Amino acid sequence: MNEHHHVPVLLEEALQALQVKDDGVYVDATYGRGGHAQKILEKIGERGRLLMFDRDPRACEDARRRFGADARVSIQQAPFSTIGRMIEGLGLAGKINGILFDLGVSSPQLDDPGRGFSFRAEGPLDMRMDPGSGESAADWLNRAEENEIVRVLRDYGEERFARRIARAILRERSIEPIATTRRLAEIVARAVPVREKSKDPATRTFQAIRLHVNRELEELTAVLPQTVPALAPGGRLAVISFHSLEDRLVKHFMRVEAKGRELPPGLPVRHDQFRARLKVIGKAIRAGVVETQRNPRARSAVLRVAERTAEGAA
Ligand SMILES: C[S@@+](CC[C@H](N)C(=O)[O-])C[C@H]1O[C@@H](n2cnc3c(N)ncnc32)[C@H](O)[C@@H]1O
Repeated sequence: MNEHHHVPVLLEEALQALQVKDDGVYVDATYGRGGHAQKILEKIGERGRLLMFDRDPRACEDARRRFGADARVSIQQAPFSTIGRMIEGLGLAGKINGILFDLGVSSPQLDDPGRGFSFRAEGPLDMRMDPGSGESAADWLNRAEENEIVRVLRDYGEERFARRIARAILRERSIEPIATTRRLAEIVARAVPVREKSKDPATRTFQAIRLHVNRELEELTAVLPQTVPALAPGGRLAVISFHSLEDRLVKHFMRVEAKGRELPPGLPVRHDQFRARLKVIGKAIRAGVVETQRNPRARSAVLRVAERTAEGAA
């Protein structure tokens, strides 16, 4: 496996969900290593376009190297919460035929010990998808108050022993700042009194800190409403999530948009303000047995799809 390797999850399913057409305009909000992007490019013709986003500079380097010369492609290194503004700036609001999100981290991020995402390998405790912005996991962990650490571990890791772990972190960092992945993993392992079957005791803590440091749920919450005005009528929104916290947000968002907005009774509102701007397409899609056997990362993946209605569209 090399530095560029990332096996795309639910590839055929996502492509089908987007209903890629020859002259369509598409957005891949999470380029990673371009598994989905490449397939989209194979399907669109000369008049099609693909806007690629990733906040990770290495992902964008990969995109530039492979697709930088393709006139149909534009590449932006930015958090996807800026997508609405960018699309508007390009004059493409209401003209996008499909937007794909394949959330979370890529294999090259997880597998590089230097990025600090994995408790399995020794490395600096960083965990930022964009190492050039925001606070590293170590910087945050060495300054955060006990209650803040407890909240993050509970809310983002669903960790039962959040208080014990937070106290152990405070104790240890007063002896010496916590700088590496292995040291944090050992602190957590000592603090957690029970073992879950085939799960490292540090799994939840690492997930929680990663979600916090990268503001992953805030990013998702901010971007979902931006997709609606970006999409053309009939345009598709496809989101692949990897844990229940993300999937819950996506499911709720699509449901609310598909029901139409609920406004307080008695307000003088126009009829069309009640109309649904999205239609949910099918049920949640999960990877089949063959895919999960080949790619264990696919086990937790859930794809949800919605289509932009003509309501309120320009
Ligand atoms: C699971 S990978 C995508 C893999 C890609 N679909 C492929 O087939 O190669 C997720 C990617 O999204 C990026 N990412 C995650 N959250 C992001 C955000 N809020 N803004 C921009 N990029 C983000 C990560 O840096 C990572 O490269």
